[in-house]
Amino acid sequence: MLRKICSVHLFSGKALDDFRHIRQEEVAVLTRALARAGQTPVNLGQLLNVCTTNALGRVMLGRRVFGDGSGGEDPKADEFKEMVVELMVLAGVFNIGDFVPALEWLDLQGVAAKMKKLHARFDAFLGAIVEEHKISGSAGSERHVDLLSTLISVRDNADGEGGKLTDVEIKALLLNLFTAGTDTSSSTVEWAIAELIRHPEMMAQAQQELDAVVGRSRLVTDLDLPQLTYVQAIIKETFRLHPSTPLSLPRMAAESCEINGYHIPKNATLLVNVWAIARDPEVWEEPLEFRPNRFLPGGERPNADVRGNDFEVIPFGAGRRICAGMSLGLRMVHLLTATLVHAFNWELPEGQVAEKLNMDEAYGLTLQRAAPLMVHPRPRLSPQVFGKHHNLKSRAMRRVNMTNKSTKTERESLHLSCIHLHSLPHWLRIRPVLGKFFPSFRMSSHLNMKF
Ligand code: HEM
Repeated sequence: MLRKICSVHLFSGKALDDFRHIRQEEVAVLTRALARAGQTPVNLGQLLNVCTTNALGRVMLGRRVFGDGSGGEDPKADEFKEMVVELMVLAGVFNIGDFVPALEWLDLQGVAAKMKKLHARFDAFLGAIVEEHKISGSAGSERHVDLLSTLISVRDNADGEGGKLTDVEIKALLLNLFTAGTDTSSSTVEWAIAELIRHPEMMAQAQQELDAVVGRSRLVTDLDLPQLTYVQAIIKETFRLHPSTPLSLPRMAAESCEINGYHIPKNATLLVNVWAIARDPEVWEEPLEFRPNRFLPGGERPNADVRGNDFEVIPFGAGRRICAGMSLGLRMVHLLTATLVHAFNWELPEGQVAEKLNMDEAYGLTLQRAAPLMVHPRPRLSPQVFGKHHNLKSRAMRRVNMTNKSTKTERESLHLSCIHLHSLPHWLRIRPVLGKFFPSFRMSSHLNMKF
C-alpha cells in the first residue's frame, strides 16, 4: 500500500509534472545562493543536500525542512541533518556481529546501542512533524495536498486491501523517503561536477549543448532535459562510476536457488555489488575512465539504460524491489547537473589542480566523496537570471557557512567509523555476503535478479 501511495502521489508522471515548479524553485534558490558566493569556496555537496531535502520536504510535508528560504533560521534543520549523517555513518559500519552471529549479542562496536538511541531521536523528530500536521493539516505554504496529509487521511481507514496505516508506518515511510531520496541524488550531482572539473573539455562540450538548447538568459527547466543528449550521457557515466548506493540494499533469498553454479540458501542475506559490476573490465572498456561518449551513438553502449534493464549498470537496483523513487531521482539529478553546468563555470580553490582533484570514496551506505568538493562558482548567465536580491545572503548559503565546521567533524567521523571501500578485502568487494555464511559466490554481471 505504501509503495502504491508513493507511486501515485510522488513518482507518477502526473505527480512529477505537478511538482515541477517546486523542483525548479528550489534549484533556483540554490543558483542564487551560489551566485552570491563571492570569494569563499562553497561546499557544493552540502548546498545540494539542502536543495534536494527542501524540494522533497515541500512535496511530502508541504514545507521546507531546512528553513523557509526567506532568511529566517530553523533550529530543527541542524538537528535533522546531523541525524541523517549519523544514520548513514552507522548503516555503513562494518558491524562484526553481522558477520559473526555468535558475537552479535555483545554489540562489540556499540552499533546497535547507537542505532537505538538514534531511532528514538528520529521518532521524536518525525512524531512532532506528524502531530503538528494533524493540527494544521496541509495549510502550509504549498498549493497541493502534500503526501503527509494524504497519509494521515488514510491512517485509520482500511485501504480496500485489508491494510491500515499506523503512525509508526507513517513515520517509517517519511524516514525512508528522506534518507533514500536526498543524499543519493545530491551526491550523484557532486560526483558529476567533480568529474567535469577534472575533464574541462567535457564541461565545455556540455555547456555548448546547454547554450544551444537553453540560451543564456534563463535557467534550465525539466522540459529542456530530453534535448540534452550529452548531459544525459554524462549522468549515465556518473551513475556507472559513482553509484550512490554501491552495495544496493540488503536482500534476502525467498527460496534456495542456484546462480552460476553457486548455491544460495533460503533466507541468505545478499548484497549486490553494484559498484563492482559497473567496473567489470570484461564488460566495460577502460572501466575506470570517465567517458560519457561510451553512451553516445558510436560508443560501446549507446543504448544502455540505467533504469534496471541492463544489469551491467544498475545504480537503482533492478527487479521488483528496484528504487521506488527512481523517476524523481533521475529528474532531480538531471535538472541539478544541467543547471549547475549551464549557470556556472567552476574553479577550484587556489593551489588545487583539476587533474589532481581528490576522487577518493568514503565508505558508508551511500557513496560519499572522502573530501567534500569545495569550489568557486562563477556565474556565466545574464545577471537577471540569478534574481534581484543580490545584497541578501541567502538562507542556504548562510547555513553552509555556519555548518562548515560541523561538516568537517561529520566527515572526520565518517572517516573514523567507516571502512574505506578500497581497503575492503577483495573477496568482500566482489562477493555478496550471504547472511551467516560466506559460501563462495562470485558476483557476475549476468546475475539473475529474481531474488
Ligand atoms: C540518484 C538517485 C537515487 C539512487 C541512485 C537510488 C538508488 C536506490 C537503490 C540502489 C535502491 C535499492 C534497490 C534494490 O534493492 O534493488 C533504492 C531503494 C529505494 N529508493 Fe532510491 N535511489 C535514488 C533516489 C531515490 C529517491 C528520490 C527516492 C524517494 C524520494 C528514493 C526512494 C527509495 C526507496 C523508498 C527505496 C526502497 C524500495 C524498496 O525496498 O521497495 N530513491 N534506491
